[in-house]
Amino acid sequence: MRSLIDILDLSMEEIDELIATACDIIDNPDKYAESCKRKKLATLFFEPSTRTRLSFEAAMLELGGSVIGFSAANNSSAAKGESVADTVKTISCYADIIAMRHPKEGAALVAAQNASIPVINAGDGGHCHPTQTLTDLLTIYREKGRLTDLTVGLCGDLKFGRTVHSLINALSRYTGIHIVLISPEELKLPSYIKKDVLQKKGIPYTQTTDLEAAIPTLDILYMTRVQRERFFNEEDYLRLKDSYILDPKKLETAKPDLCIMHPLPRVNEISVAVDDDPRACYFKQVLCGKYARMALILKLLKEASV
Ligand code: NCD
Repeated sequence: MRSLIDILDLSMEEIDELIATACDIIDNPDKYAESCKRKKLATLFFEPSTRTRLSFEAAMLELGGSVIGFSAANNSSAAKGESVADTVKTISCYADIIAMRHPKEGAALVAAQNASIPVINAGDGGHCHPTQTLTDLLTIYREKGRLTDLTVGLCGDLKFGRTVHSLINALSRYTGIHIVLISPEELKLPSYIKKDVLQKKGIPYTQTTDLEAAIPTLDILYMTRVQRERFFNEEDYLRLKDSYILDPKKLETAKPDLCIMHPLPRVNEISVAVDDDPRACYFKQVLCGKYARMALILKLLKEASV
């Protein structure tokens, strides 16, 4: 049974196909309005979410399907001590496809190994977030018309930010990508990703703590939130939470066609004064998330039916 745990589970051709399907859905929504009739998506969210869960639900509803699920671990039998394996075996009797978010790294893989229906990883701890990456790739493609030859700045919590980890993996397969890692010392990208992805694939990258110095070089600036829930102590979080705040002043030296992205939720790392800048793409990115998930649900359900 085909699941999506890591963005690298998809070939580059499959990513191209998903982007093409998402663009076709954007242009011809009526064509897809009944594509998932009588199909059910189960959203199993053991960790809070607004965009990811609701965009999965909106995606399935727009495909003519329906949705069941829970939005917090304490609303499920996990609160009674049920294992992820037993939960997904149960849900496999009710639904056709699962989208699951869990605070533990590796939980999505365990789910996929035990489910008899496709499982989509909607975020497993600080590890992966492949559907956010599909969203990000679709956004970059629609804004820039390409996924190659880009200087991409990733700023904020590069240690715990699973969206950044998945995006680096995805971008490392395209040509002409330069990565600029912008973070405080304590929140640097884990060295296993530098070694196993960036260095192994020969992707040029630089590391800096200085957002302002990096801005003029960038085609994409991907801001992230400092992930309070992944810190072991509150003091460290409080010390680091305001490391970067993007505001109109800092954007004065940016390229006129810079694309500013953020997986959201934002706390204060992008000032609301930036929202009216035509280079702010983060709410367009939210919309892309629904279409990317529609394309993915269609693909996995189609593969499951043959
Ligand atoms: C991110 C996540 O949950 O990893 N958000 C999202 O899915 N859109 C980033 C975050 O929580 O900061």
